[in-house]
Amino acid sequence: MSKKAVIFGATSLIAEHTARLLAAEGWELVLVGRNRQALQAVASNLRLMGCAPVHELLGDAADMSALPQLVDSAHQLLGRFDLALIAWGSFYPNPDARQIQEMERINHTAATALAELLGEALAQQRGGTLAVLSSVAGDVLRPANFFYGSTKAALDADLRKLRLKLAPRGVRVLTIKPGRVETPMTAFAPRSFLTATPAATAAGIRRALQGRRDVVYVPGWLRAAFFVLRLLPKWLVSRLRF
Ligand SMILES: NC(=O)c1ccc[n+]([C@@H]2O[C@H](COP(=O)([O-])OP(=O)(O)OC[C@H]3O[C@@H](n4cnc5c(N)ncnc54)[C@H](OP(=O)(O)O)[C@@H]3O)[C@@H](O)[C@H]2O)c1
Repeated sequence: MSKKAVIFGATSLIAEHTARLLAAEGWELVLVGRNRQALQAVASNLRLMGCAPVHELLGDAADMSALPQLVDSAHQLLGRFDLALIAWGSFYPNPDARQIQEMERINHTAATALAELLGEALAQQRGGTLAVLSSVAGDVLRPANFFYGSTKAALDADLRKLRLKLAPRGVRVLTIKPGRVETPMTAFAPRSFLTATPAATAAGIRRALQGRRDVVYVPGWLRAAFFVLRLLPKWLVSRLRF
């Protein structure tokens, strides 16, 4: 029997590449996104691969009241799912008050609310994986992305709590922490040799889904790098330029 996944924020470039890997293995997919045209484009490309059914659901993270209905609809389309992936995210380099609020809502509040709903759905069907795209930015709050990082740090904390609650019910909660990836979200920033491609990041996510870790850094060497960065004194961190 083919495996099944629901992907929220399916128009994210990282999510799209991950979906391609899953589709190539024959996974049936429900793609959730807020932009009809972009969602259709992603779904059509996946269907062209001719592997397994691909469904679309329109939904906006900003509309938190609609999240329970979206989870129900995904469940109805798939019956049971093996994987739920939350990939949406918002980033502003020099945010004003409204943008800080938006990042907090999308990256933290709505993501946590959705993670709770999906976690409960997986627990009721007695197992599965809930994977959430967080970021290394949450590990060390640097001047370049302080507000974004704080939303991801809050998300990480909520996922830790959810993991403890759901592990006894057979649900794996996987926190995925990419470094900088070349996607529309980082289009403003210059590329460097440290910038990963979405394809390489998706491959790292695919490996993480097969592994057993609860928190995965993509690429893996970022775990050691951020371990060291976390040891730096705050005054030094506040001088970091990246
Ligand atoms: N790129 C990086 O360097 C990097 C590094 C670490 C972690 N991440 C995380 O990886 C995840 C995917 O990001 P990405 O790099 O693939 O960026 P991306 O291609 O720009 O995708 C961002 C996604 O978030 C969606 N989104 C934004 N606001 C939304 C809202 N109100 N409701 C529903 N969806 C919304 C976008 O939808 P639309 O297509 O409709 O705009 C899009 O699907 C994010 O959680 C991000 O924080 C990215």
